[in-house]
Amino acid sequence: MSKVFITLAILVIALTTASFSGGPQASVTASDTPGDPQGVAADKGTGPFQNVTLAPPDKDKIKTGLSVFTNKCLLCHELDANKVGPPLRNATKTYSPEFILNMIVNPVEMQKSNATVKELFKKYNNVPMPDQKISQQDALAIYEYLRSVVK
Ligand code: HEC
Repeated sequence: MSKVFITLAILVIALTTASFSGGPQASVTASDTPGDPQGVAADKGTGPFQNVTLAPPDKDKIKTGLSVFTNKCLLCHELDANKVGPPLRNATKTYSPEFILNMIVNPVEMQKSNATVKELFKKYNNVPMPDQKISQQDALAIYEYLRSVVK
């Protein structure tokens, strides 16, 4: 994919996602699911998610998550292959929930302040993941979806 196309894609995304909904962070209880972080995950990143406890998987949220993922993420992320950004199949096993959720709702700050994201930014051709003003609720739904696809 050419740089011009990527830049265009980012512009289109920026222009078409003007909606913003904050809302309080969901609070949930603990679980023990295969897709959950397995030891890597001390880094919480920067953003509104600082203390997420995971509930058992929720079918409705997974469905919502898939639909938001398809609309807002699939352009740049495959589950298993590099695209514009890294593959996300095992993201929830690799990073803490807070890191992933903050990356979804606060990517610009994450690029500025997070060492892991700075590395990824270099690795993925200096393309910044755009801030699409995803609500915390939608971010949590995407997280549920990502948790459900872990192999
Ligand atoms: C315009 C392309 C683009 C879009 C759209 C996009 N990303 Fe990204 N994403 C990237 C790039 C590139 C990186 C690597 C870090 C960077 O350069 O900012 C990244 C990094 C990430 C990371 C951290 C690294 C990792 O390996 O897991 C997560 C999590 C992530 N994206 C999830 C998402 C989700 C979820 C969405 C949809 C809400 C999304 N991204 C939308 C391009 C994009």
